[in-house]
Formats: sequence, C-alpha cells, structure tokens
Amino acid sequence: MPAAAERPFPSAPLPGQPASPPERVAAGPLVLRRVHADDAGAIAAAVRASLDHLRPWMPWATPDAADLRSQLVRVAEADELWESGTGFIYVMVARENGASGPCAVRDPDGQFAGTIGLHRRLADAAVEIGYWTVAAMTRRGYATAAAQALTPVALALPGTRRVEIHCDEANTASAGVPRKLGYRLDRVEAHEREAPGEQGRRMIWVADGPGPAALGGTR
Ligand SMILES: CC(C)(COP(=O)(O)OP(=O)(O)OC[C@H]1O[C@@H](n2cnc3c(N)ncnc32)[C@H](O)[C@@H]1OP(=O)(O)O)[C@@H](O)C(=O)NCCC(=O)NCCS
Repeated sequence: MPAAAERPFPSAPLPGQPASPPERVAAGPLVLRRVHADDAGAIAAAVRASLDHLRPWMPWATPDAADLRSQLVRVAEADELWESGTGFIYVMVARENGASGPCAVRDPDGQFAGTIGLHRRLADAAVEIGYWTVAAMTRRGYATAAAQALTPVALALPGTRRVEIHCDEANTASAGVPRKLGYRLDRVEAHEREAPGEQGRRMIWVADGPGPAALGGTR
C-alpha cells in the first residue's frame, strides 16, 4: 500500500472536507463556473482575440486553440479531470451589464473573461492555481478576484496543505496576482522555457493556510 502522498487518487475526504470543489463560486465582480461544453464557443472566440496576449506565456496559445473543436476537446478533458478529482477548471464570467467583448456567444451570467484552474499535485499535498484573462479585459482585478476566491476552496480539498501559483520571473502581470493576495514567494527555480516570453526562472508563490492570503488579500 503506497503512502498517502503517493496514492494516485485523492484520499477520502475528512468530515467537513468536500472531495470536489463547488461548481459555482462567487468571486466579487465575477462568477466562477465549472467549464461546460456550452462555454467552448466563447473560449475559442476569446483565445482568437487574445492570441498575441497569450502566446508569450501559454504554450497552448496557437491558432488551433482558437478553433471550436479544439476547445470542445479541452472541455471534455477538463470533465475527465474534474471527475477524477485531479483538476478543476472554471470559466470566469464578469457580471457586467452591456459588456461587449470579443465573444459573440451570450452567457446568462455575463461576459466571458478567462479561465482559472485548480490542479492537484497529490504527491506533495499541493494545489496549483493557473489562469488567463481575455486581452481586452485585463487590469480589472479579475485574475486577482478569481484566485482570491479559489484559494480557500483549494485549501478545503482533502489532503491539501498549500496552494501555489507558478509563473516565470519575466511574467510581471502574473506575478502581480499572488503578490497582491499576500502569497509568499517561496523560491525561484530554473525551468525549461515552455513559451516564448519566458526567461527560464520560475517563481513559486505559496499560500499555506487560511491566513491573510486566503482570506483577505490587499485589494
Ligand atoms: C496574468 C493575467 C492573468 C493577469 O490578469 P488580470 O485580470 O489583468 O490581473 P489583475 O487585474 O488581477 O492584476 C493584478 C495585479 O497584477 C499586476 N499586473 C497585472 N497586469 C499587469 C501588467 N500588464 N503589467 C504590470 N503589472 C500587471 C498589477 O500589480 C495588478 O494590480 P493593479 O492593477 O492593482 O496594479 C493576464 O495578464 C493574462 O492573462 N496574461 C496572459 C496569460 C498568463 O500569463 N497567464 C499566467 C501564466 S503563469
């Protein structure tokens, strides 16, 4: 029997700990909603309109990712991750009235603004948060609001001791999110460059528990 940290699936939830996060989370100006096949059109349109913004940092940001079929496949993969308890991908939807962005697809909750995911690393009891926002909707505090809302959600998953946000040192926009939320910079380590904007030095930002980082932030 492998040690708990090596089990391939999440450990059984303790009383009061949900095995999966909620499918809908309020996040200030946003609603975070489990990604669904109905979102694929909006995601593809947003990727198409944001390729120059995403390409430096996201290895998957290719013209192919702007195709509806590709996004339908990615949503199906996200479903498998969710059901296996290893990854939880949400769309960020901005609760704005009358917003008109690059996404022609109407959403009952508002305007598609990006995605954010919780990725479980069972071997070391960590959950990693990753995100991107639509190019035309940056600098509105959306990534910060979404990460702030999901930090305590991640810490409530069984067997989770800390939440991490990773970004290349050159990605100042991404580093601004954990910095603003009060995550601590645990370390910077060399990594293989995966996207053209990266320098090859990865910042590891950590929130250990329900302290200021998880609860309040500085916003
Ligand atoms: C990184 C990213 C998700 C940030 O999204 P966002 O919604 O614009 O972020 P926020 O508005 O919450 O910004 C939070 C803080 O980050 C910093 N920041 C954000 N964008 C910045 C920029 N272009 N330049 C410098 N600092 C920036 C600021 O400190 C900002 O706070 P402030 O606006 O009060 O000064 C977005 O720029 C993005 O999608 N980038 C491309 C994909 C990517 O890099 N994903 C992360 C991979 S690790």
